[in-house]
Amino acid sequence: MRAVAIVPAAGRGVRMGSMGPKVLMPLLGRPLLGWTLRPILESGCFSEVAVACSPDHRNLISRFLSEEAGTGTPVRVIIGGQTRQDSVANCLREISSGCDLVAVHDGARPLVTAGLITTVVKRAEEGGAAIAAVPCKDTVKLSTQGGIVSETLDRSRIWLVQTPQCFRFDLLVSAYEAARRKEYVATDDSSLVEHMGAPVHIVMGSYENIKVTTPEDLLICEEILKRRVR
Ligand code: C5P
Repeated sequence: MRAVAIVPAAGRGVRMGSMGPKVLMPLLGRPLLGWTLRPILESGCFSEVAVACSPDHRNLISRFLSEEAGTGTPVRVIIGGQTRQDSVANCLREISSGCDLVAVHDGARPLVTAGLITTVVKRAEEGGAAIAAVPCKDTVKLSTQGGIVSETLDRSRIWLVQTPQCFRFDLLVSAYEAARRKEYVATDDSSLVEHMGAPVHIVMGSYENIKVTTPEDLLICEEILKRRVR
């Protein structure tokens, strides 16, 4: 099975309040994207990696990637789009045909492990589509627009979804094509595949596999990384 990884990293980091690209913010002295790419490359699952970046940051990210190179796996930089979905769609169009599986992993999730990536890829190889997720620990409520509780959801069936998410290449391409036709926009890739009616298998993720979105996430990441590198 030939697998390719897509790393959407074209977000502007608005919620982080960062001046430059969020994915190049330092984490223990190393750019965040470097931490994210290491387990992807170390997993040995992928023949190619495509990183989506914003046009403004293309040169910075390309320079960083050329300095980081060394595993032998080609890492390409592709211009992302307005939304995460556009960024992944751009990568899907550009990656070489002939691959069987495609895994998508957020550039902003630097604490993923090679083990989790491998488990998700294997599950997708067997079942066509697999995502990492963790059981919800809090009570979850729906509200009206005005902020009044309208419903309390059954926590035992709620999963907090992460990346990696891995799919048969042709399934994900069809799902993206259908979403484009129907103008359906979602915040993860699995939603598009679910929309096609295809089963998506849940793999136990990790509570450490957080997405760096707001400044306190960086502090949490640094503490976890300090423990890991000790
Ligand atoms: O903002 P969000 O939580 O959707 O970001 C998830 C990932 O998608 C981040 O790694 C971010 O850089 C990426 N992204 C992207 N293109 C966008 C918006 C977000 O590649 N236009």
